[in-house]
Amino acid sequence: MKVLIIGSGGREHAIAWKVAQSSRVSKIYCAPGNAGISRLAECVPIGAMEIDRLVDFAKEKEIDLTVVGMDDPLVAGVVDAFEAAGLRVFGPRKNAAVLEGSKAFSKDLMKKYRIPTAAYEVFEYADAALCYLENEASFPIVLKADGLALGKGVLICNTREEAKDGVKEIMLDKKFGTAGNKLVIEEFMTGREVSVLSFVDGETIRIMTSAQDHKRAKDGDQGLNTGGMGTFSPSPFYTAEVDEFCKKYIYQPTVDAMKAEGRPFKGIIFFGLMLTEKGPRVLEYNARFGDPEAQVVIPRMKNDIVDLFESCIDGTLSRIELEFEDNAAVCVVLASDGYPVSYEKGYPIKGLETFEEKEGRWVFHAGTRWDNGQIVTNGGRVLGVTATGADLHKARANAYEAVRWIDFDNKYCRSDIGKAIDEA
Ligand code: AMP
Ligand code: GLY
Repeated sequence: MKVLIIGSGGREHAIAWKVAQSSRVSKIYCAPGNAGISRLAECVPIGAMEIDRLVDFAKEKEIDLTVVGMDDPLVAGVVDAFEAAGLRVFGPRKNAAVLEGSKAFSKDLMKKYRIPTAAYEVFEYADAALCYLENEASFPIVLKADGLALGKGVLICNTREEAKDGVKEIMLDKKFGTAGNKLVIEEFMTGREVSVLSFVDGETIRIMTSAQDHKRAKDGDQGLNTGGMGTFSPSPFYTAEVDEFCKKYIYQPTVDAMKAEGRPFKGIIFFGLMLTEKGPRVLEYNARFGDPEAQVVIPRMKNDIVDLFESCIDGTLSRIELEFEDNAAVCVVLASDGYPVSYEKGYPIKGLETFEEKEGRWVFHAGTRWDNGQIVTNGGRVLGVTATGADLHKARANAYEAVRWIDFDNKYCRSDIGKAIDEA
């Protein structure tokens, strides 16, 4: 098989690494990819949003399976375009990717089908949102831009004034562009967060092992929100009791709801959960693998991932048993100092070769490129260093040991990824 992967981050590197293990795959392409991915796949300089060019490329190379890693092309309808051209593609169609693409849609879906989530209101006009904040709201409160905003469209506001400023930023100043055409105002919840990813074939859902992300830039969950500074898997807070609750009230009900709405979901559903005192609640849905959740979940997966992709497309997922290693994994993101605000790029990266002969240690590239025969930094998140271990403590020690193998100017990482396991 010839496989095309769409995307360029650490998640796509992890997907490419796993696809490369499949005995059925003879050639991998990645558009646009990065320096790390280029060791496993032929990277082609087509952007993830250049949908027509991607379709043309897949036709020309007779690609047997395309896997979409990123949210933007899914929400823009890349799957529909591939299907219209008669190409096999893994991911939700546009009418199902809206589960991630519109928070107003996902909240209304959860309300209609009684899937547990925070109480909320949707607003189309800033005046109405401001009036609500003035008269009905309690604080803290959460504002969410309706559309995709690189994970930055969520504001947690402690006071009425902050919230009013937030409404202005999102709806009037359009800080997140058209993503702010609608606004969700949501009840503030507290509790531990867990990411649960799943394969879905329109009807059947298979849950992957749990993970926890660290979204803030600095130790102790301080600093700004980022794309994710590190992950661990499994989450010790995701107990059998939580799993049972989610299976009954969240996972299958979501798949059934999408089907009932005439929007059958085929692909990955990522459940962002908060474990509140009242039980698990959905914080958000994503329509693709998490980044950097993929970098801890995929290395622990026993199955051939190509079988899973194909069974989702063909509607035969019920025949597959999804299995994970009985171990743990930790991923520490190495970023450019200053991320997510401003940072420099172009620094040579040393030590990558150390990973080559090491089992259970991986360096997944996020923002890297080739420059005159060497690999240099090319983004805020540069690398994700993943290590497995018999348990979370061992995986964590292994990951931080491997972090020291890598060196580049302005290298920055959190030192407390996975520390929460001590609280379990
Ligand atoms: P989201 O993009 O919806 O996952 O939101 C980003 C982050 O904002 C989440 O990971 C949570 O940490 C936080 N968040 C979102 N919604 C809520 C909520 N209703 N209550 C408290 N925190 C929230
Ligand atoms: N790590 C969170 C996300 O991929 O959205």
